Amino acid sequence: MVVAGATVDVPAATRFMMPPSSSPWLVAHRGASAYAPEHTIAAYTLALEQGADYVEQDLTLTRDGVLVCLHDDTLERTTDVETRFPDRAVAETGAGGSPVKRWYANDFTLAELKTLDAGSWFDARFAGERVPTFEEAIALVKGRAGIFPELKSPARLNARGVDVEQAVAAVLAKHGLIDAQVKGRPAVYLQSFEEKSVRRLATLLPAVPRALLIGAKDAARWLTADGLREAKTFATAIGPARALIEARPAVVAEAHAAGLAVVPYTFRAARDAAAPARDAVRDEMRRFIAERGVDGLFTDNPDLFPR
Ligand code: G3P
Ligand code: CA
Repeated sequence: MVVAGATVDVPAATRFMMPPSSSPWLVAHRGASAYAPEHTIAAYTLALEQGADYVEQDLTLTRDGVLVCLHDDTLERTTDVETRFPDRAVAETGAGGSPVKRWYANDFTLAELKTLDAGSWFDARFAGERVPTFEEAIALVKGRAGIFPELKSPARLNARGVDVEQAVAAVLAKHGLIDAQVKGRPAVYLQSFEEKSVRRLATLLPAVPRALLIGAKDAARWLTADGLREAKTFATAIGPARALIEARPAVVAEAHAAGLAVVPYTFRAARDAAAPARDAVRDEMRRFIAERGVDGLFTDNPDLFPR
């Protein structure tokens, strides 16, 4: 049973790891990904131009151990890998039982990844955009906004002998980002859907705030008074799918009572959306901030974020 406010009193600055007066955080989801190909320098640059407080990076590792910014475990949706490396696919069985080919990023070296076109799938005018490394993203964003890196499929990478949490910690340390601030906020906010990975980050990087992402399949586990109290033992925020908040708006106050910030995903209007659809997304973000009381949110459309 969910009991609102059934937790100890936690000072606001500790609870949110943000100044109590901090305005809502605009997290540019995969960059300004409504308008430019996700996780490219073009998308990150536009996110900065559109006023993002944080620019999100989804992270995986190349075969030679370099962190790169990519949402999927595989390359075929967002690059031309299928034509560049037709013989490097892994044969798998798809959801419907039919055979599918997958090109896992972790099977490719950075040099190979850098030959891929990561922009044309979105629009021909982005032809030649590349898969950025995490360090290239940091070089672009550092000092101008925060970064919001998500560890993608850490258990799958761990099973391949890849220590992705340690790799992230090493890059953050190298760039002086462990205790850094930007514009009054932590310069880094980590995130993952995988509990084990967020727990590991809490141990490796206790000074860096971190969000546990929550999709529909994990909602029953985490979005209760007990679940939120447990989450607070290793996370500083939750990142639920926005539909989970719509389904039960009280969860925001319950998370705050447990000492957790709330940063839902994802608010988006298509790049060619007409004005009424864009207005609807802007209004939805405004409502989540003003009425639902969320602390920040992920959006593909930083230009629609209500200020
Ligand atoms: O990290 C928040 C949100 O990005 C989670 O969804 O699939 O876009 O990474 P996804
Ligand atoms: Ca993400």
